[in-house]
Amino acid sequence: MPEFILINKQVAPFVAHVQLNRPKELNALNLELMLEIKEALIELDNDPNVRAIVLSGNERAFAAGADIKQMAGRNAIDMLKIDQFSTWDSIRKTKKPLVAAISGFALGGGCELAMICDMIVASETAQFGQPEISIGIMPGAGGTQRLTRIVGKNKAMEMVLTGTFISAQQAKEYGLVNKIVPVEFYLSEAIKMAALIAEKSPIAVQLAKESVLRAYEMPLQEALYFERKNFYMLFATEDQKEGMAAFVEKRKANFQGK
Ligand code: CAA
Repeated sequence: MPEFILINKQVAPFVAHVQLNRPKELNALNLELMLEIKEALIELDNDPNVRAIVLSGNERAFAAGADIKQMAGRNAIDMLKIDQFSTWDSIRKTKKPLVAAISGFALGGGCELAMICDMIVASETAQFGQPEISIGIMPGAGGTQRLTRIVGKNKAMEMVLTGTFISAQQAKEYGLVNKIVPVEFYLSEAIKMAALIAEKSPIAVQLAKESVLRAYEMPLQEALYFERKNFYMLFATEDQKEGMAAFVEKRKANFQGK
């Protein structure tokens, strides 16, 4: 049984919910919590009854960053040997879509974890930031890379070099957040978004997610070839036949993930 997270495999049809659950520490991401998220996501990725996953914290905090108390006494070689970011790499490889439901603080590793997710629904109270600079370090889980790709160089520089937080509204203007809702709806709205995805063909969703991620990670021409191959591959699925037949017959498609 995980100690630091809660898992609900069916919060809605084909939608699972993973909740960070270290409320007293504002969901600070210790190594154990990160390993639990990694293992949960591997299990959910392999579960045919799950097609989309919502990752949340609680109203006060999504996560206030890596656990500073756990890291404080470590030296560079300890950090190298612990290799905590291989856990993050595994989370990044989750095939199913991840919708982050963010309320309160999403700071440091918390902001980085949100950016590994594929979409972000935020409450009006959400705050995003990369405050590592204020404790004498810098972001290490993608905060200088994913953030820069999402919001652009100057805004990323300001967040990373000053450590100041941005509001949900600013994060939306920056393109970091998909949607802002009143705090009482941030989780239900994220579940709704995940449920919309879960109605689609899971194979098409998986290949489409992979292809969008390649936009960040590959030169354009290579990424276009990647996209094309995935596009062609979907014509090998029953879901493609079903989706197109349903369109022609003017009915709702019933995708089986085959
Ligand atoms: N690690 C460990 N404990 C943390 C924590 C963190 N990142 N963030 C908060 N906590 C703990 C606090 O120590 C406190 O515990 P105690 O009650 O035992 O003292 C508890 O959570 C509540 O926090 P505060 O009393 O500080 O609450 P606040 O409302 O006054 O302030 C805050 C909230 C602004 C988020 C403040 O807690 C804060 O600045 N936290 C640290 C944020 C930060 O620097 N994050 C980056 C971490 S480094 C990183 O993430 C590296 C990376 O790239 C992977």
